[in-house]
Amino acid sequence: MDLRDQLESPLFTHFISNYAQPTGPDLLARTEEFFEWQEARRQTGLWPYSRSLEAAPNAECGVRSETGQARLGLNFGSQDYLSLSTHPEVIATAHRSIEQYGLHSAGSAMLGGNTTPSLMLEKAIAEHLQMEHVALFSTGWGAGFGTIVGLVRPGDHVVLDALSHQCLQQGAAAATQNVSRVPHLSNRAMRRKLQEIRARDTKNGVLVVTEGLFSMDSDVPRIEELQGICREYGATLLVDVAHDLGATGPKGTGSLGAQEMLGKVDLVVGAFSKTFASNGGFMATNSPAVRQYVRVMGGPHIFSNALLPTQAAVVLESLRIVRSEEGEALRTKARENSTALRGAFAERGIECLGDVSNVVPVPVGDPKVARLAAKFVFERGVFTNLVEYPAVRLRETRFRMQVMAAHTPEQARQAAEVVAGAIEEARRLVKTQGRSARAALREDRPLAEL
Ligand SMILES: Cc1ncc(COP(=O)(O)O)c(C=O)c1O
Repeated sequence: MDLRDQLESPLFTHFISNYAQPTGPDLLARTEEFFEWQEARRQTGLWPYSRSLEAAPNAECGVRSETGQARLGLNFGSQDYLSLSTHPEVIATAHRSIEQYGLHSAGSAMLGGNTTPSLMLEKAIAEHLQMEHVALFSTGWGAGFGTIVGLVRPGDHVVLDALSHQCLQQGAAAATQNVSRVPHLSNRAMRRKLQEIRARDTKNGVLVVTEGLFSMDSDVPRIEELQGICREYGATLLVDVAHDLGATGPKGTGSLGAQEMLGKVDLVVGAFSKTFASNGGFMATNSPAVRQYVRVMGGPHIFSNALLPTQAAVVLESLRIVRSEEGEALRTKARENSTALRGAFAERGIECLGDVSNVVPVPVGDPKVARLAAKFVFERGVFTNLVEYPAVRLRETRFRMQVMAAHTPEQARQAAEVVAGAIEEARRLVKTQGRSARAALREDRPLAEL
């Protein structure tokens, strides 16, 4: 098939959502149609997902596609924001911890899975956030999902920022049918929604959910105002700080620290997987009752094995660095790289979305252009992630570039040149060879609503 035909075929006109609601009695057989489509994309280099790194997530590294194509190039797709995963002291800590504790999966935290490093980590995260109590989870996903299902019951309400992460959306959906979403970052819409809920229901709980830094858009809510609105309407605020904790704010305290909200938000959840060189997550609260309740009732804490002692030790050491002068210097470096990347795109006429953070969303728009550009970008040795519909709206297809402390501004400029060049070339090809993606616009609903 030549490019003209490809552009009008499901290779470019279909999305994951076309295959999300299969029907028929055979649960296994009905996955085939999706697989055929995905396989066609894979074989034509148009499936930019599930790649593997061939070494540590350094600024330059080897990456292999699912079909085995290997490339050596610039890595703007990892989220090792302060580059702590290769920090000599973090690695030495991991070695020491393995010697001391062995490499065991720790068991449920309820059944002997707590360890000396995990108890120390709970205390250290609580201090970092100026909160009283912390419960650990073995993933960031589990922390968000588990906190919501632990606290919310079918009569309660959950109101989410429309762009909240899937762990929060799915936690809400698992806990109650009373789930609403308000437009992204709109505190005014949140107030209206809470007013509406409280006008008809004063007997049940309301959980309001947002993030400290939205990782597809690199933007931040006004947290103090939001917490105030929640108090006015007897609602509880939960902020997921997976992307900002450690990477932004004074001493790495993220958006809560930057907005002087440490210790003042009802519930904070987060992940260690971005800045702290390990899987894992946490929930922080000022209430000992909430901590114990979520530990017992939030499924993933009790029914999934706890963090390995090595993971807890690695996060602790990472947190020590995050809070140190060295941590401040690493955040400054990452910020300089991010600013250089944004600047280089601006020089080429592309305004990246949101605020300066480790996330640099590069808007493309037309999903066909984006899919083709993603192929070129990989072939030209830059690794970054394509975010397609339905993870974002159809016309908001973008690259999500992620900047680390280990990059240099020069590498940022080189990557921008490759990505901007690929977008330009893809745009020209789609214009001359294909029709627009208008037909697919009918489908345009975000993932959370599918
Ligand atoms: C806001 C948010 N919460 C939770 C998670 C899940 O964290 P993890 O991948 O560490 O399980 C992520 C990222 O993946 C995230 O972006």
